[in-house]
Amino acid sequence: MSILLEEHLNSIVIPANLRINDQINQYRKHCAANGCHRPYHHFAFGQSPFSPPPKIIQALQDHANKHDYLPTAGLPELREVIALYYKKKFGLDCTARQIVISPGSKEMLSMLLAVLQGSIIIPSPSWVSYLPQAKILKKEVISLKLSPEDNYKLTPSNLKHGIEHTHTNQRILILNNPNNPTGAVYFEDELKALAEVCKKYNVIVISDEIYARTSFNFDEYRSMATIYPEKTIVTGGLSKDRSCGGYRLGVGVFPQKSENLVDDILKIAGSTYSCVAAPIQYAGLVAYSMDEDIESYMDDCANIHSLVGQKTADLLSEIPGVKATAPRGAFYSFVDFNEYRDNFLQLGFKTCSDFCEHLIAVEHTALLPGESLLLLEDEFAVRVSYVDYDGNKLLETWKKDQPSNSQTEDEFFTQNCPLIEEGIKNINRYIDQIKNMKKPEHI
Ligand SMILES: Cc1ncc(COP(=O)(O)O)c(C=O)c1O
Repeated sequence: MSILLEEHLNSIVIPANLRINDQINQYRKHCAANGCHRPYHHFAFGQSPFSPPPKIIQALQDHANKHDYLPTAGLPELREVIALYYKKKFGLDCTARQIVISPGSKEMLSMLLAVLQGSIIIPSPSWVSYLPQAKILKKEVISLKLSPEDNYKLTPSNLKHGIEHTHTNQRILILNNPNNPTGAVYFEDELKALAEVCKKYNVIVISDEIYARTSFNFDEYRSMATIYPEKTIVTGGLSKDRSCGGYRLGVGVFPQKSENLVDDILKIAGSTYSCVAAPIQYAGLVAYSMDEDIESYMDDCANIHSLVGQKTADLLSEIPGVKATAPRGAFYSFVDFNEYRDNFLQLGFKTCSDFCEHLIAVEHTALLPGESLLLLEDEFAVRVSYVDYDGNKLLETWKKDQPSNSQTEDEFFTQNCPLIEEGIKNINRYIDQIKNMKKPEHI
C-alpha cells in the first residue's frame, strides 16, 4: 500500500534558495572537475559570507561538554543577557521573562503563526518562508503587493486595504525590517504611521528583525516594538549579523503582559524540540554580552554590506531597463526585469524561474526568481544577494585599510568582489543579447 500524505502540502515546494544553492555548489564542483573553468556567479543565496566572531566560536568550543537538556525557554542567564541587549541596543523595555529562545528565528516565526489567531498579512515581495509556513499551518494569507514608488515599503493605506480583505477580528502582520529581499529599512515616522493602523484594526505585528544589526545606519534604526510595544513580537537571532546561521539560535521578544502567548509558545517548543542545543546557549551568552570586539565586528560587516550593496545596486541599475533597489540594510537588492517581459515571453519563458534557469545555463549566473518571493510567476523580478565573495579576506582588508573615498571604495569593490562584478557584466551581456536570442531547446 502506498504511503498517504497530507494533500495541503502539495502546493509547497522546497525553497528555491536552498535548491539553487545546491545546484550551484554541484555545478562549481563538477564543471571544474570536467575541465570547464568558467566560474559560477551566485546571487541566489542569503548567507553571511564572514566567519563568526572568534569569541563566539571559542565559547562554543569551551562548552562542547554541556550536554544536559536546558529549560525550554532558554537558560535563565541567557534570557537575562538578551533582555539587557535589547534594552541597551534597541531601547526595548523588556525583562528576561519576555525572552524565549528557539533553534533559529525561523522556528520562532512558525510557532508564532501556529499560536496566533487570525489572517496573516504578508507584504510582497517577501522572504521565501513566510508563505510556506502559513500554508503548512493552513492559515488564511492576505498578500499585499508593495510598490516601487514607496520603495517597496508597506504604507498605512496599503495595510488598510489588506485588512479590509481579512475575515477575522484579529490580524497578524509580518513586517520584515530591514527587508529581505529589498534591503529597505523603515524610518521611525513610517513605523508610527503603520502602528496607528495596527492599533485601530487590532493587528498583531510579528516584526522580523533578524537583519536589524546589519542596518547600514544602526544609530537611526528603530524597532517596531519601541513604537507599538503592546502588540509587537520581535524575532531575531545570531544568523545574519554574527554570521552563525548554522548554529541555530533564534530569539523571540514578547510584549509585557503576554504570559498566555509565551505559555502557548512553550507548549509547542517543549513538545517539538525540548530546548535549543546546550553548547550554543552558552555561546549565546557571549554573543549577546555587548562585548566590544563582537559589536565592532558587526559594525564592520554592516559597513562592508553597505559598500558592496551600493556598488551592486549601482551597477545593476546601469543595465538599460533594469531597476535595482538601493539597500539600506541586510544584503539584498530586489531587481526588476519586467521591461524585458515581451522578450522573455517570446523566448518561451512562462515564468521568472525559466529566465533564471536560462541565465544560469548561458551566463553561469544565478538569481533568486520572484515566484519564491510571493510574486506571480510571470513577474520578472528577482532577489540579488551580494555576498558572493571571500568574507574573511574582505574583513581583514577592511580592518587594515578602510576605504575612505569613492575612488578607494571602487578599488575595494573591484579587487575584492570579482565574482559580483563579473556576474553583473554577465547579466548585462545577456540583456543586451536578448533580442537576438533563439528559443532554448528545452522550452
Ligand atoms: C527575513 C528572514 N527572516 C528569518 C530568517 C530565518 O533565520 P534563522 O532561522 O537562521 O534565524 C531568515 C533567513 O534567511 C530571513 O532572511
